[in-house]
Amino acid sequence: MNQATDNPLLQAIALCQSDMAKVNACIHDNLKSDIMMIPAIGHYIVGSGGKRLRPLLCLLIAKLFRYSGERHIPMSVVVEFIHTASLLHDDVVDSSDLRRGNPSANGVWGNQASVLVGDYLFSRAFQMMVADKDMVMLSLMSDVTNALAEGEVLQLSRTFHLEMTEEECLEVIERKTAVLFAAAAEVGAHVSNQDEETVRKMSEYGMCLGVAFQLMDDALDYLAEAEEAGKPVGHDLEEGKITLPLIHAMHQDEDLAKRVEDISERDGYEGDDREWIRNKVHQYQGTEYTMQRAKDYAERAKALLPESGDAEILKLLKDLADFSAQRMY
Ligand code: IPE
Ligand code: IPE
Ligand code: MG
Ligand code: MG
Repeated sequence: MNQATDNPLLQAIALCQSDMAKVNACIHDNLKSDIMMIPAIGHYIVGSGGKRLRPLLCLLIAKLFRYSGERHIPMSVVVEFIHTASLLHDDVVDSSDLRRGNPSANGVWGNQASVLVGDYLFSRAFQMMVADKDMVMLSLMSDVTNALAEGEVLQLSRTFHLEMTEEECLEVIERKTAVLFAAAAEVGAHVSNQDEETVRKMSEYGMCLGVAFQLMDDALDYLAEAEEAGKPVGHDLEEGKITLPLIHAMHQDEDLAKRVEDISERDGYEGDDREWIRNKVHQYQGTEYTMQRAKDYAERAKALLPESGDAEILKLLKDLADFSAQRMY
């Protein structure tokens, strides 16, 4: 890996190289099962090139606080398993056929297999925490998993909710995505035995970074091409998700709001809907507005980092917050 690259994800992977090797080994150990479909689907999704941003945050923060133990390895895997399980379920719920540049697991093995292997990963994550024997971790991660489920159900209950406000949008984002980033950061500080205030600030850093990350994800749905995103684009509204880029544009254009209502009544796209909507969102700068909000959250995240500590790690944590708000994949 080239340290000179300006991609903070690659820099973080290089800096945490030996920890990441242990994380990958731990992932593989925990995908073992004599039910062949479990390692088959597990390796398929885990090996298909996710960014590993959540475990990296946990590892980097443990490194920042000079943690010398080993608990951050299985606990990073717990976070990545919960994330992966939520993706397996999310692609079923969102009827999505592409993930990480490959056919989604539900596209290859079907919805039932994806849901069940997602359940397996959730429960394996909890077995790993029981083995770690720390009620604080168990309490944190059970709250997070619960919030994540609530977030997805809340989003579902707001399908084609045409009056969706920015505030309602952020409520979904915090629950379905940001809480897991908050937990990833919190775990790094918690295993390193930091005081309550430091742990709280690191959790808040993860939360703000996570909001930025999901806002950018919602912008990318209107901005990116499927090849670079590695997942379908222009798909959120098709599934009834009223996200910030669209909300911002709808507030300025009655024709757009009317067309969205038509799509909602038909429960899906027809004809040139996808392109027409995308053009309107661009015309009214819906993605620019959303990216600006993402940048605001990235700034908030950066301001929560400690003032002193290893300069290289602190810079990376800042760059990862910026990356979350500016990423193209
Ligand atoms: C995708 O997360 C789900 C969202 C919260 C938007 P990532 O973009 O981190 O997914 P991978 O792990 O890199 O594929
Ligand atoms: C994030 O929402 C999904 C989870 C928190 C599981 P999205 O539905 O926007 O994620 P993508 O776009 O499918 O990755
Ligand atoms: Mg989805
Ligand atoms: Mg998305």
